[in-house]
Amino acid sequence: MNQTGTAQRVYSRIAGTGSYLPENVVTNDDLAKIVDTSDEWIAARTGIRQRHVAAEGETTSDLAYQASLRALEAAGVKPEELDLIVLGTTTPDLIFPSSACLLQHRLGANGCGAFDVNAACSGFLYGLSVADKFIRTGDAKTVLVVGSETLTRMVDWEDRTTCVLFGDGAGAVVLKADTDTGILSTHMHADGGKKELLWNPVGVSVGFKEDEKNAGVRISMAGSEVFKHAVRALDSVVDETLAANNLDKSDLDWLIPHQANLRIIEATAKRLEMPMERVIVTVDRHGNTSSGSVPLALDEAVRSGKVERGQLVLLEAFGGGFTWGSALLRY
Ligand code: UT7
Repeated sequence: MNQTGTAQRVYSRIAGTGSYLPENVVTNDDLAKIVDTSDEWIAARTGIRQRHVAAEGETTSDLAYQASLRALEAAGVKPEELDLIVLGTTTPDLIFPSSACLLQHRLGANGCGAFDVNAACSGFLYGLSVADKFIRTGDAKTVLVVGSETLTRMVDWEDRTTCVLFGDGAGAVVLKADTDTGILSTHMHADGGKKELLWNPVGVSVGFKEDEKNAGVRISMAGSEVFKHAVRALDSVVDETLAANNLDKSDLDWLIPHQANLRIIEATAKRLEMPMERVIVTVDRHGNTSSGSVPLALDEAVRSGKVERGQLVLLEAFGGGFTWGSALLRY
């Protein structure tokens, strides 16, 4: 309660960010040696110049662990203070236990709830939305939200239409309950009717036993169709977010978009009439790291000093499912 006797709103505020990229860098020229492609084509169509690829034996929870340590340190929070861990991933270490449980044990955060969220590239924003609800209802005060992927493990390295797009990496944030400011709103959407346009059609109850060498475990995408859906869905969710907060696009300080394709990022920036100097771009160096992409870009924006406390930041993502979503926050 505040001095007037009314209940104060509780926000989820980002107390610290962290990220981690595997050491191994694969350039477009490297890929041109294994498939019929070129640096010119990849850079012109996607904006990607290079991506990081996890080492043999390096897992999604390994990347998540490194990113989480950095976020916890930045927030000044000890693992045992966490009330909840939510990890967005579509490439978990194991079918079960969840990568969140593996991460929890490794961090020494044992006892708090921990679960994965699979919403493909929107996984971090879905996770952020869930964590925000826990904090706003008072069920949690300190939550670790992670997006971590080893997508290159399920890429077909003979398919030039997909293998040039993806990379591995992780980003994390520590959210703390705050009475001043933080996440203003989150929006989540999905359309399972378009699943074949972007998917990996093998799972535990479909095709798993027939394919013991997992030869069918491959990302498959109808690129230009997905492109059109992504631009439309992102236009709509950024409009929805501004309307829900009674804000105008000119109020935004930063756009931190999902990093799939520079042309998609530019289309959303144009919709928002934001100059590219106010848009965080990492796709050139990271490629598409699915749920790792937004928290990786956020961490880079914070650590480089671009995003400052008090600024209005819009996060958005679109991915397989389809899923899409946004988060608006006063950093
Ligand atoms: O994170 C989840 C969301 N994902 C996305 O948002 C990705 C959305 N899609 C895209 O980013 C783009 O559609 C791609 C980058 C995947 C493809 O770009 P595009 O401008 O839509 O190209 P396209 O698929 O229409 O292909 C154009 C041509 C084709 O050749 P033809 O049929 O015109 O002769 C492709 O075979 O480019 C060819 N092509 C390539 N050429 C060289 C496709 N991939 C390559 C390649 N190198 N790697």
